[in-house]
Amino acid sequence: MSDVPIITVDGPSGTGKGTICSYLTDWLQWNFLDSGALYRVLALAAQKRGIDNKDETALANLAEKLNVEFKVAGAGSLVDVVLDGEIVTDEIRTEEAGNAASQVAPIVAVREALLSRQKAFHKAPGLVADGRDMGTVVFPQATLKIYLTASAEERAKRRLKQLKDKGISANLRDLSADIAERDERDSTRAASPLKPAEDAVIIDTSTLDINEVVAKISELVKERIPNLATR
Ligand code: DC
Repeated sequence: MSDVPIITVDGPSGTGKGTICSYLTDWLQWNFLDSGALYRVLALAAQKRGIDNKDETALANLAEKLNVEFKVAGAGSLVDVVLDGEIVTDEIRTEEAGNAASQVAPIVAVREALLSRQKAFHKAPGLVADGRDMGTVVFPQATLKIYLTASAEERAKRRLKQLKDKGISANLRDLSADIAERDERDSTRAASPLKPAEDAVIIDTSTLDINEVVAKISELVKERIPNLATR
């Protein structure tokens, strides 16, 4: 197992983690862990059961038993997220779901309950892991740790564009406020706060387009994993 490579991609939302991870997963044909989706699904499951997002014991129990599957949904890295047999892929992608996830994520017992589930994604031929604490806590042994950052303003603009492309209306001021609030909560919590691992490569994507970020990361991957076998 120790020789199965892992690439971790951490950072706040809106830095391009999702795009980079799906690029890496498609290129390398490795397994993919979207750890944020686990926190989002947990928050949704809690809401559906009427569990308060401050009820630590009930949330930890729910995290332990969470009936979630990631099912390949088509070409490339596309997956459907299935909760209790119901496809919730779109439902967990809303701003509300992201905020709810960020509210259940500081609970230590929740993070512990989700740990072994996340580690189980580490299988041959390799793993790309997207999140906040992939390189610091879940996979400290990772072969390559990337930490993406971007200015809060740029991230809010990107999010606005993503929402508009999906036909969802939003305004920049509200989005900026939400992003600032979520960053603050994710980076100041005591348990596994959002921060770069000491050995992470930090890339500021504020002034880079996605192709430039992809080119930089591809070089790093080739350097760090020289005998790379892509299928
Ligand atoms: O990456 P995302 O936007 O889907 O994550 C949603 C929230 O889940 C994020 O605001 C904080 C939490 N999260 C976390 O605490 N640890 C992770 N590894 C991933 C996400």
